[in-house]
Amino acid sequence: MVGSRKLIGPFSQILTMRKLSLFGSLADEELEIIENGAVLVKDDILEDIGDFETLRKKYSRVQLEEISAPLTLLPGFIDAHTHICYAGSRSSDYALRIAGKSYLDIAKQGGGILSTVKATRKASQAELEMGLSERCKTLLENGITTCEVKSGYGLDVANELKMLQAIKVVNTKVPVDLISTCLAAHTLPPEFNSHAEYLKHIVRELLPLVKNKDLSQRVDIFVEESAFNEAEARSYVIAAKAMHFDLTVHADQFSTSGSKLAAEFRAASADHLEASTLREIEHLAKHRIPGVLLPGACMGLGINYPKARLMLDKGMCIAIASDWNPGSAPMGDLLMQAAVLSAKEKINTTETLSALTFRAAHALNIKSKGRLIEGMQADMIAYPTSDHRDILYHQGSMKPSLAWIKGNKTRMF
Ligand code: NIG
Ligand code: FE
Repeated sequence: MVGSRKLIGPFSQILTMRKLSLFGSLADEELEIIENGAVLVKDDILEDIGDFETLRKKYSRVQLEEISAPLTLLPGFIDAHTHICYAGSRSSDYALRIAGKSYLDIAKQGGGILSTVKATRKASQAELEMGLSERCKTLLENGITTCEVKSGYGLDVANELKMLQAIKVVNTKVPVDLISTCLAAHTLPPEFNSHAEYLKHIVRELLPLVKNKDLSQRVDIFVEESAFNEAEARSYVIAAKAMHFDLTVHADQFSTSGSKLAAEFRAASADHLEASTLREIEHLAKHRIPGVLLPGACMGLGINYPKARLMLDKGMCIAIASDWNPGSAPMGDLLMQAAVLSAKEKINTTETLSALTFRAAHALNIKSKGRLIEGMQADMIAYPTSDHRDILYHQGSMKPSLAWIKGNKTRMF
């Protein structure tokens, strides 16, 4: 059908991410840049990408969506790790932290994750949906077209279901594609004394409902002495895998161990990795487990960044995500965080943009997004510049002027 096809262009530059490896370091010379380019979109799929004049002739009868300003087009960003379904604020935690208290100390004193659990349990599903929808607007303004969202502030059957249902409903209402993850194994809720008993309860009472109601395909667990230790996590992971959930792990944030478990159980990703040493990094690289790095949490907590350069040099696939949450990472500006990490760790333009696009898609097990090549979903963002290097140079303060999701222009900012 001719009507469902459109040619969009000309763009000053198109970054296709074509042929870039999923693993290891990349050179800026490998980044394919089409100058004066265009894309042909059929329904929600990219059908052709190339030089504007050539495509204009080739598709002379196809409707043209004309671009009249200098813009650089690239795949929509994919934020592979967030906790943006929540109620309440943790500004008091933040004030304590910058006054010198640690994240773990604040948690021990009743702040931290459990204070968000209290507020989230009190909120209705409609209130959660409203907060999440608002945050989705910010995502889009920041160029994020796909976003993972975790539960984990309910910590009982009814409230975890409420969170996952809120995510499912909002996903039908906003243009950003939301991927939900069940993080009931975030921390021990006040009703339980035993970590093992709580996890058994979740396996018995919650996970079957999550499956049957089609609320999520993914399960996450926070592996840390202050949350769930390796032995406790192991039984849970075995049970979740047996129920055919994809696994992801909050790993090596403050101490090592989660990454080993992630590798052993072939997790879709191991996230955080601030405490990972050469040993854990080589292990993840050997087992081809993508690392999802969360510089926003390092900024919010004032802790060291993960060894991103070493990870790439050792052959890992790394994604960069925002970890946007009310506690450790309240900012929610993914590109700003990626730009700061890349300046600190010396992650070049190609590696950084890869970590926000096709490598982030890989960490979520998504094959249809993250590159602007034939057959991929037409999720695209355009920045107001004719030089793609401006995007990181402005460290997040330059925002995209246009975004398309499934080929539809979502809004003019
Ligand atoms: O990824 N580390 C555990 N969970 C979150 C923090 C959630 C919170 O503090 O509310 C994280 O940083
Ligand atoms: Fe997190």
